[in-house]
Amino acid sequence: MKVLITGITGFAGSHLADYILKNHPGTEIYGIIRWRSRDENILHIKDKLKLVECDLRDAASVKNTLTEVMPDKIFHLAAQSFVPTSWRAPSETMTTNILGQINIFEAMRELKLFETKIQLACSSEEYGLVHENEVPITEENPLRPLSPYAVSKIAQDYLGYQYHQSYGIKAIRTRTFNHTGPRRGDVFVVSTFAKQIAMIEKGKQESKIFVGNLEAKRDFTDVRDVVRGYWLATEHCVPGEVYHIASGETHPIQFVLDTLLSFSKIKIDVVQDPTRMRPSDVLILHGDSSKFRKVTGWKPEIKIETTLKDTLDYWRERIK
Ligand code: GDD
Repeated sequence: MKVLITGITGFAGSHLADYILKNHPGTEIYGIIRWRSRDENILHIKDKLKLVECDLRDAASVKNTLTEVMPDKIFHLAAQSFVPTSWRAPSETMTTNILGQINIFEAMRELKLFETKIQLACSSEEYGLVHENEVPITEENPLRPLSPYAVSKIAQDYLGYQYHQSYGIKAIRTRTFNHTGPRRGDVFVVSTFAKQIAMIEKGKQESKIFVGNLEAKRDFTDVRDVVRGYWLATEHCVPGEVYHIASGETHPIQFVLDTLLSFSKIKIDVVQDPTRMRPSDVLILHGDSSKFRKVTGWKPEIKIETTLKDTLDYWRERIK
């Protein structure tokens, strides 16, 4: 079996490659890289991967890549995935996220890859404004996006539906709630807190941690559980349908901060940084993933405290 992972040098992509190598030996893993991609997340497995240079925003480049690989499964994880950047660079976010996916779908049509399953990394951020009486959120909840990023993910999600209906493309739409763990980029909430604590412990930052909105609530799953879910999605889920991947537990960001701080012996002051506040923040995400669990048998195995500790240790190792 040949699988193609877009975003293989990133957070979820590199963990997915680890998961496949360990649990599905014999699978040929192809990954898309750009000419300046950083490879630190895949350095430890690089010799086991087949890396192909491709720019998803370039239709010819995508078609050439799919012609070369002819994958049985595609995991489409490449994206502009940081919500605040989408306010500063909305067009770039739309281009990368939407056009990139259209180029893949069009290449699949031209190459008649109608048996290839393609998993789409859709997002709980699509729900945006969620009312207290709507949680836990099911797949039927209205989408009320609060960021350009959310709009781009809705487009990816519904393009998956439309290409399935129009042409029979086997698109599997997974709306994943927040996921975190080692290798997560340092701008996301758990990583930025963990990195700052590691910097303070090494004497590289004064004993102050800068934070944004601590009242928002998020449903976190460990990335290592999420990528197992992605694999199961391509094995068991129905193309065209949408599924939640979520832990089913929600925590205020204050809990994330307090738990990370509890792992450190140093006394650290908390400082709210106005630049970390958003024009409109999603107040609560809490997912009902019973549909996905029923079809796949998936359930998360890693507790949030373990994920937070592993992430802090990851940053402790990196900050010298
Ligand atoms: N990034 C960040 N930095 N967020 C902070 C901070 C901070 O210093 N302080 C508080 N927060 C709050 C944000 O306001 C938000 O409510 C929450 O922490 C989570 O922020 P992020 O980690 O940036 O993630 P996100 O929820 O905006 O989006 C993530 O989850 C989506 C799924 O719902 C990303 O991973 C998306 O790519 C993903 O689709």
